[in-house]
Amino acid sequence: MQHHYDVSLAPYTTFHFDESARHVIDVATVDDVVHACKEYGSSLLVLGGGSNILVTSAIERPVLRTVIRGRAITMDDGNAVDVTFGAGESWHDAVEWLVTNGLGGLENLALIPGTVGAAPIQNIGAYGTEQERCFRYLEYVDMATGRKVVMHHADCAFGYRDSVFKNDLRGTIVITSVTYRLHRHAPLDTSYADVQHWLQEREISDPGRKDVFDAIIDIRRNKLPDPEDVGNAGSFFKNPVVTGEEFQRIQSRASGVPSWHMADGRVKMPAAWFIDQCGWKGYADGAIGVHHKQALVLVHTGGGKGRQILELARRIASSVFDRYGVHLEPEVQIWPPN
Ligand code: EPU
Repeated sequence: MQHHYDVSLAPYTTFHFDESARHVIDVATVDDVVHACKEYGSSLLVLGGGSNILVTSAIERPVLRTVIRGRAITMDDGNAVDVTFGAGESWHDAVEWLVTNGLGGLENLALIPGTVGAAPIQNIGAYGTEQERCFRYLEYVDMATGRKVVMHHADCAFGYRDSVFKNDLRGTIVITSVTYRLHRHAPLDTSYADVQHWLQEREISDPGRKDVFDAIIDIRRNKLPDPEDVGNAGSFFKNPVVTGEEFQRIQSRASGVPSWHMADGRVKMPAAWFIDQCGWKGYADGAIGVHHKQALVLVHTGGGKGRQILELARRIASSVFDRYGVHLEPEVQIWPPN
C-alpha cells in the first residue's frame, strides 16, 4: 500500500484538471484493499483510471487507486474461455491481449480509456457491444466491513451505461477483479455503418477479429480526442432514451433526428445530434470547449477548472431542453456529487 499526500489529480484523471487530493492510497493487492477498507471504511473514494470522472473541487476524503494487476485463465473448454483480470489492468490492454490470443467478444470495445475494474460500473459500450455481453462475475470488497464478495451477472442490473454499482452499491464497494467469458468462435459484429465503411474502403470482405479490432481503433482515433493530448472523458452525456409517445413529440420539433428503436418499445436518440443542432460543436471558451468532431465530448486544453466544464455542460443541457424538450443526463461521474 502506498500513501501520497497533497497530490494533484491532473495526471490521475483524463480531464487533467489540477484539483488536489489530500490523501491518495495506491492498493496493489486484494489484501491491501481489505486493510484500507478496515482502516478508512466508507470514507474512501475509489478512482480507477480516472477516465469517467469530472473533479470540480479539492478532495478531502482519502482516494483509493486500485492498481491490482494480473490476468488468469480460469476455465477453457476449447471454445469458451474465462479470463479473470485484476481491476487495475488497462481496459484496452486487456482487449488487445484477448484479440492477440484469438479470444472473441470484446474486440468492439478497443481503445476505451480506463481500467477493467471500472468497466462494469457504467457497463461500457461501443459499436454494438456492451461489456455485459461477456461479463461473468466480479469480486469486490465491501468498504464498510472489509468483506470479500462475488457478484454474478444476474445480480448486476446492467443497463445502458448503468448497473447496480452506479445505484444501490454506489460508493460502497471496491471492485478487485472482473471475469469475462470469451469464445474462440465468437461471431464478429460489424453492423455499425462506420465499421462497414472502414472494411469496404480496404476491400476486406471476410474480416477477421484483428481487422475489426483495427477498424475500431482507427475509427475512434479519427473521431475522439486522445486524453493524452486533450483532456476529456469521452461522451459527457448519455444518449437520451424516451417512450415511443415522447419520441413522437420530440420528432415534431426535431425533424431528421436519428433514432434507434429498442426491443422494449423505447427509443434512443444521439445526444450529439441535439448538441450539434444547438450550435455547440467546436465551441471554445479559453481552456474548455466542445470537440470539433464529436459534439458529445467536452474538452479541456489545459489550465482550466473542472467547474467550468460543469457550467458548460449545464448551458448545453438547458439549450437542448429549451429547444427540444429533451433532458440530457451526464454519463460522467461528477465530484462532488450534487
Ligand atoms: N452526431 C451528430 N453530431 C456529432 C456527432 C454525432 O449529429 O457531432 C450524430 C450522428 O447522427 C451520428 C450519431 O450522432 O450518427 C451517433 O454518433 P456516434 O456514432 O459518434 O455515437 P454516439 O451516440 O455519439 C455512442 C457512445 C460512445 C461510443 C459510440 C460508438 C454514448 C453516450 N456514447 O456515441 O461511447 O463510442 O456510440 O458506439 O452512448 C463513451 O461512452 O464515452 C463513448 C465514447
